[in-house]
Parts: sequence; structure tokens; C-alpha cells
Amino acid sequence: MSKAGRLVVLVSGSGTNLQALLDASADPAYGASVVAVGADRDDIEGLARATRAGVPVFVEKLREHPDRAAWDLAIAARIAGHAPDLVVSAGFMKILGAPTLEAFPVLNTHPALLPSFPGAHGVRDALAHGAKVTGCTVMLADTGVDTGPIVAQEAVRVYAGDDEAALHERIKTVERGLLVETVGRMAREGWTVNGRTVTIGGVR
Ligand code: GAR
Repeated sequence: MSKAGRLVVLVSGSGTNLQALLDASADPAYGASVVAVGADRDDIEGLARATRAGVPVFVEKLREHPDRAAWDLAIAARIAGHAPDLVVSAGFMKILGAPTLEAFPVLNTHPALLPSFPGAHGVRDALAHGAKVTGCTVMLADTGVDTGPIVAQEAVRVYAGDDEAALHERIKTVERGLLVETVGRMAREGWTVNGRTVTIGGVR
């Protein structure tokens, strides 16, 4: 069974999910703490949140490497430098490659009910499809785009008149709670993966 005390969180933007993890881990009883925050770009609020919390940050930009394979190795090395038990991709808008996925369990949060609406525009795609219910999914990352085993999900209703921003904000309110609860349970109770079934603390 895996446990998840040391978290490296990856971000690409505002970092409100990161902030929720930082806030939760202020309580030692939470069972996990954010030991570093990584990003693929600078000047983002997610990095500022980490710095304000006294958490070390690193930035690994794709364009500063000759190719994707080199970036994959570089970000895996940066992550490894902080010896995480679990990597949390929280609004990190890059697909992680084998060097990271083979070295660490990676948890990913997505603003739709997978397997519906994977990819970079989960909220926009759900709206465009006319979905009446969408939500958020916390999953273990694999080499595909939002295809890994699902750990937790919660539904959010789509209201008439919702635009992408309004719906995304409502999803994110639910998503932050789900991510904090899921990471905390994984840290305290451990988890196992059997095929596509993820079990936390022996309870499916
Ligand atoms: C979250 O809704 C997360 O699910 C989404 O970006 C947002 C980040 O918000 N990620 C994806 O769409 C990945 N496909 P935050 O920066 O405020 O935590």
C-alpha cells in the first residue's frame, strides 16, 4: 500500500487547488504537506502562493529544452530532488512523460466527470455538448490524456445561462474540497491500485 506524506504540487496558473492543499496541510493531523511547487512557466499566482507559504518552487519551461524528451527528464529530476511520496498535478497544463510517471505516483485533478470531456477544455466542452451535469475528477495519471484510474468524483449541475467562467468557478469550489479530502485520505490511509480500481484505506 502506498502512502503520501510528501507532496510536490505542479501548477500552471492561479493555484487555488494548491492553496487549498497548503491550507489543509497547515494542520499536522492532515497527514501530508507540500514540500515543493513546480511550474512550466513563471509569473503565475500559483508560484506566488507557494512562496508566500514558504514552500520552495521550481520552474521548468518546455521551450528551454531541445525537445519534449529533454523536458520530461528535466522536470522528473526537479521533482525527484524533493523526494515526494505523491505528485499532485493541480491545474498543470502539460502531460507528464514516462520519466515522472515511472518514478512517482501522480494525482491529477480535472474539471469534468471523466471519461467525458478530457483535455485542456473540460468545462467548455461540457457546455458545448449541452451536458446538464458535469463535475470534477481526481485520477491517477497515466501516459494518456486524463485516462488514468479514477480515485474520486463529484457532480456539479450546469445551470441555464452558465458561461465557461461561471461554471468553472462552481466546479472549482467543489474540486478543491474533493482534492483536499482525497489527498488527505490517501496520505493517512494509503491506497492500492488493482487494474482500474483505486482503493483508499481498504474501502472501495
Ligand atoms: C482546475 O479546475 C483544474 O481541474 C484544471 O485547471 C484548474 C486549475 O485551477 N485543470 C485542467 O483543466 C487540466 N486538464 P487552479 O489553478 O485555480 O487550481
